[in-house]
This record gives sequence, structure tokens and C-alpha cells, in this order.
Amino acid sequence: MSHIEAVRNVCGETFAPPRHVAIIMDGNGRWAAQRGLPRGEGHRRGVEALRRTVRAAGDLGIDILTLFSFSSENWSRPLAEVRDLMGLLRRFVRNDLAELHHKNVRVRIIGERHLLDPEIGRLLQEAEDLTRGNTGLTLVVAFNYGARQEVARAARRLAAEVAAGRLAPEAITAESIAAHLDAPDLPDPDLIIRTSGEQRLSNFLLWQAAYSELVFVPTYWPDFDRAALESAIAEYRRRERRFGGLAARAGTGS
Ligand code: IPE
Ligand code: IPE
Ligand code: MG
Repeated sequence: MSHIEAVRNVCGETFAPPRHVAIIMDGNGRWAAQRGLPRGEGHRRGVEALRRTVRAAGDLGIDILTLFSFSSENWSRPLAEVRDLMGLLRRFVRNDLAELHHKNVRVRIIGERHLLDPEIGRLLQEAEDLTRGNTGLTLVVAFNYGARQEVARAARRLAAEVAAGRLAPEAITAESIAAHLDAPDLPDPDLIIRTSGEQRLSNFLLWQAAYSELVFVPTYWPDFDRAALESAIAEYRRRERRFGGLAARAGTGS
């Protein structure tokens, strides 16, 4: 029995860490502006926050950590900033992949990969291939990711099966759509955190967020750390998840 399973058994599910935490890492630019620094400096410090958060998530017994690192809509930023962000991703994979692998982290990528720069495509593939057999934290990087685009991809895959005569239109259900998303084997996020004070999803995991608890924190992403993650998890634990049913206490009739 793993340490986490032991904690779950002793304390009951209420005290177990959320299994899947997803984070919208926002506020790098404002962090930099506040200090009179270029936005790129905020992004560089954001990568340090990402490293801290991956370590903390592993320590806290989270199984899956999904990080929104570049959205389908972020291409609309100035070219210099887009280049900066692409450079940071390349450097992150080159510098950190060996250590992630050493720490038994399994890397997964969600998002549209076909139109990416081929070198970035290769690096992302290498990260997934190298860590495929790892059994520790699953780190899902949402890169060139948009939830509407992901659902459209699932719809295209299903439509192709219908067109090929392998699937009846009536057989399309919420479950079969979910099964054609980018990482269909992963459970939905229990907790979605957004930093920087913005209270919106910005096209992140729209399908999977149906029953996620949302926690919005004012911290800019470069300042996010283990304590901030723990406090978001503490907030999550105060929530009562009902999934459309009744509260656990009310449901017992006592
Ligand atoms: C998050 O910080 C990083 C990305 C979206 C890539 P921002 O760059 O959005 O920072 P703000 O929101 O402008 O402060
Ligand atoms: C969402 O942040 C995307 C990422 C964190 C990668 P944005 O900064 O792009 O979102 P908006 O534009 O404020 O909604
Ligand atoms: Mg932003």
C-alpha cells in the first residue's frame, strides 16, 4: 500500500489530496510590470514557479498535475513574446527532462501538435516517450491547447468512424466523446486553480471541468509556491462536491 493510500484509508477520502489538480498559470506579465521588468522576465520566473509546483505536487501526493502553459489563443501575442515562450519550453524540456525522468514523473502533452515547429514537436514526443513507463506523478502539459479545439478534434475522430461505417450516430454519447479527447485515460480534474485574480477558464478543459472545484487565487504565477498550493487544496477540502446529487449527510436520511 502506498503512503497516499494509507493516508486515504486512515483519514477517509475527505482528507486525501485531490487526485488531479489543474492550474491556469497566469500573471507572469503583471508580475514583471509591477517590478518594471520586461514580460519575458515574468515568464522566466514563471518556469521557476512551475518547477517548485511540480516538486510540491509530488510531495503532497497528487497523482496528476495539469499545467496550462500555452493556449491556442496565445498565438495572438506579439511575435517576440511568442518566440520567448517557445524558447522557454524548449529550454525547459532540454534542462529538466532528465531530472523529471529520474524522479519517476510521467510527462503527457495535450493540445494540437500538428502545426507546431517540428523541433518542439520532437521534444514533446521525446518527453512522452522517455517517461512513458514512469509510475510517479503524471505531469500533463497543456501546450498549444484550447478546449473547444480539443472537443472539435474528438468530434472529427467520431465523425470519421461514422463515415467509415464503424459507428452509428446514435452510439455517440458523452462517454464516447470523452473517450476521444486528448488524454482519455485520465480522470477529470478535481481542482482547477487559476492564479493572478482572473476568474475565468480561458478555454481550458471546458469538457473535463464539468464538476471540478474552481479556486481563484490573487497570487501572480511567479510567486506561486508550495504554501499557495497547500492553501488552494485546503480551500478545496472545505467544498462539498455533490455532482448533482445530495450532500453526503442529507443523502443518508439521518
Ligand atoms: C501567463 O502569464 C503565461 C501565459 C499565458 C503564457 P501572462 O503572460 O498571461 O501574464 P499576464 O496575464 O499578462 O499578467
Ligand atoms: C490563459 O491565460 C492561458 C495560459 C495560462 C497558458 P491568458 O492570460 O492567455 O488568458 P486571458 O487572455 O487573460 O483570458
Ligand atoms: Mg494572462
